[in-house]
Amino acid sequence: MTPNPRQRRSRNIFASNMAANGVVCSSKKKIQNGKLILKEVNGKQNVFSEQAKNAQLLETKSSNGRPPKKPDRSKESFEEVPLYTAVMTYLGFYLLMFLGYINQLFFTPKVAMERNRDGYVPLFDRFESFYLRYVYRRVRDCWNQPICGVPGAEVILKDRITKDYGWTFEYTGTYTKCLNLGSYNYLGFAEATGPCAEAAAEAIKTYGCAMCSPVQELGTHPLVLELERTTARFVGTEDAIVFGMGFATNALNLPSLVSPGCLVLSDEKNHASLILGLRLSGATIKVFRHNNVSSLEKLLREAVVYGQPRTRRPWKKILIVVEGVYSMEGSVVRLPDIIRLKKKYKAYLYLDEAHSIGAMGENGRGVLDYHGCDPKDVDILMGTFTKSFASAGGYIAGSKVC
Ligand SMILES: Cc1ncc(COP(=O)(O)O)c(C=O)c1O
Repeated sequence: MTPNPRQRRSRNIFASNMAANGVVCSSKKKIQNGKLILKEVNGKQNVFSEQAKNAQLLETKSSNGRPPKKPDRSKESFEEVPLYTAVMTYLGFYLLMFLGYINQLFFTPKVAMERNRDGYVPLFDRFESFYLRYVYRRVRDCWNQPICGVPGAEVILKDRITKDYGWTFEYTGTYTKCLNLGSYNYLGFAEATGPCAEAAAEAIKTYGCAMCSPVQELGTHPLVLELERTTARFVGTEDAIVFGMGFATNALNLPSLVSPGCLVLSDEKNHASLILGLRLSGATIKVFRHNNVSSLEKLLREAVVYGQPRTRRPWKKILIVVEGVYSMEGSVVRLPDIIRLKKKYKAYLYLDEAHSIGAMGENGRGVLDYHGCDPKDVDILMGTFTKSFASAGGYIAGSKVC
């Protein structure tokens, strides 16, 4: 995917949070009870060491005979991006933009020009064409190198060189093994060999790889029904329904849940699939500050007090939409606080667990498990099979009756 300037900041923050969460192994490492504990990153204690401290605290208290206290998991520690790094990143980027403008002035490209289009609205956005050709092209090999191999702890990159500043590439025939900081194979199931790969190959041989139609047209399949039951059991809900694509699970199901006259309160860092689904729904969308409970409460209070604009009728439905773990920031949703607010203001809650299911909590059951919350307190639990589960598709889980 092409990073644009607005995503750049989040990527920097993501990189620093990934570091704080132990992905970049430049800090001091220690193995304790089979768990990797990262001691300090840039002089600050990180999440893992904080959790370890909490666990120690618990052990001491219970050995004293007092009831163990639940650790407060709503507090997170983030490594700040150092000023020097931020300044150098922005400077580098502006320099690239400046050189790009000069380049465009003297070397107008002969490709992909729109001709004989007088009176037509241009097909291509001017800034996007400029950005892709003159800014991103020069640096795209930093992100777009072809990967040949599974996305494990390490990935193998196919080496290539460019003699024309990124317009074309030539393969050198060599490969480079790198540390993988860029994919979501959280549990290591996405392997080319081993039990998961073998079971998947066997199932494809027996059943084929797709139903090639929605349930309403050609019906369902015992394996799909079993997957739905297993998913519901795993996340702790009454039932679940599965879909062939995670992105579409959000984009196409949200419009069936909210419509014009409904209010959606959406975290500012929500994923594109959630934003698209909400826009398609026609509901009114208000955005609250990232993971900020007071900002959410302010919007909830206003929504309940003032109702819909002009008519002042109550909103048909108020839906809060959040993610379990935010993919670009690495932040964990403040679920207990959000559940408290949703109950107080009688709103519904939609939780996207794409990055938390399988990866968070003592039993790997996502942020509900991590925070010790009851799955019944979340109205719609959404997740994908693409990250921890090394597959494709998404699910929506909840109770059978509202
Ligand atoms: C929070 C979130 N929801 C939904 C999706 C879409 O999932 P998929 O990649 O399975 O289509 C993603 C993808 O990265 C995501 O990060």
